[in-house]
Amino acid sequence: MTTSPATSRVLTGITTSGTPHLGNYVGSIRPSVRASQAAGVESFYFLADYHALIKIDDPARIQRSTLEIAASWLAAGLDPSRVAFYRQSDIPEIPELTWLLTCMTAKGMLNRAHAYKASVDKNTAAQADQDADISAGLFMYPVLMAADIVLFNAHKVPVGRDQIQHIEMARDIAQRFNHAYKGDYFVLPEALIEESVATLPGLDGRKMSKSYDNTIPLFAPKAELRKLIASIVTDSRAPGEAKDTEGSALFQIYQAFASDEETAQLRQAFADGIAWGDAKQVLFERIDQEVAPMREAYQRYMDNPGEVETILRAGAAKARQTATPFIAQLRHAVGLRDLNAQATQKAIRAAKAALPSFKQYREADGLFHFKLVDAHGRLLLLSTGYAAPKDAGTAIRQLQAEGTAGLGTLRPADGVSPEEVAEALEALRNAA
Ligand code: TRP
Repeated sequence: MTTSPATSRVLTGITTSGTPHLGNYVGSIRPSVRASQAAGVESFYFLADYHALIKIDDPARIQRSTLEIAASWLAAGLDPSRVAFYRQSDIPEIPELTWLLTCMTAKGMLNRAHAYKASVDKNTAAQADQDADISAGLFMYPVLMAADIVLFNAHKVPVGRDQIQHIEMARDIAQRFNHAYKGDYFVLPEALIEESVATLPGLDGRKMSKSYDNTIPLFAPKAELRKLIASIVTDSRAPGEAKDTEGSALFQIYQAFASDEETAQLRQAFADGIAWGDAKQVLFERIDQEVAPMREAYQRYMDNPGEVETILRAGAAKARQTATPFIAQLRHAVGLRDLNAQATQKAIRAAKAALPSFKQYREADGLFHFKLVDAHGRLLLLSTGYAAPKDAGTAIRQLQAEGTAGLGTLRPADGVSPEEVAEALEALRNAA
């Protein structure tokens, strides 16, 4: 029933709402590309453009972001021949499954989703209606995400901490479905939180995030990269004064790109009073060293969106090889079925009912008898009396096995031809 691959399935989605920045690269793109190269892992990475619609109503921005994110992952070394790399909206089975899961989802659970609750709290604080400006899309977000995951029976879902609750909800929903339809349809997914992956600070020292407007785009042109790095906040210590690595955004970003040895060198330079301007130059060079070759590939993809489109469509075709038969199975499980199949089942039942049958009974004489009647109850054959029920049973089995050759002294009932008895026994034998 459940697809139980020998390998472990890893799946994650990236919402197509912005331009990838260094934080996305360090926290998600780089570790995912590395993980996809490991043996024994089947990876599913997709562009969550349906999810993007929840936050964004600017079509051009969705389209641009989809291209930028796809180009970024490919430029970072994602190999579409090893990984299923696709766009959510190219998989019609996802919204289809979303509805099946919606009907298995407790509304009360969705009421407790962090993202929805935060919006409600904001409204309450502003003394507005509690659901003001909250779309049903935001409310249903966890169900769509559950469908993304369980459609491919993913075991592990690498996500940020803010998404753990969504994975727990996916488990809950999948479990309810399995229980309601009595089968192991879905694997229960687990969140995979990479402890070793750093959360990158942004230009202002807070977590690098689009919502803080403190990001460094992953593929900013060199000059812009240099300018942005120059704008990272530092303290006002002068050249020659020792600098703190603790709490330094610059140092933390460096660490995410540098080897241990390089990091130790910069730590020493901080202690020795490196000027902030020089430290920024070191950081710029280190990042650019890793990013420059990818930037070229990125630009090539950005200039050839048709190539990206082709890759994504091929990825969707690959993903649907699993999704299409699976959704057919799920539709059947819930009762969305081909009525022809029902007609066939009915015909089978009718054919069974149309068979002749043996009936055993005890007479007033205390002996055990049987008779053979046709589908309409017409008497075809009447036995003599047997001392024990098992003797009657033996005679019946003999008739079933041998047909009229097993009749012995028994004769067809009045008005019944031997051929009719032979046909009835034959019909029973064929149905057995
Ligand atoms: N909600 C995720 C985020 O914002 C993106 C996402 C959508 C996702 N569907 C998913 C992540 C399925 C993992 C699995 O980060």
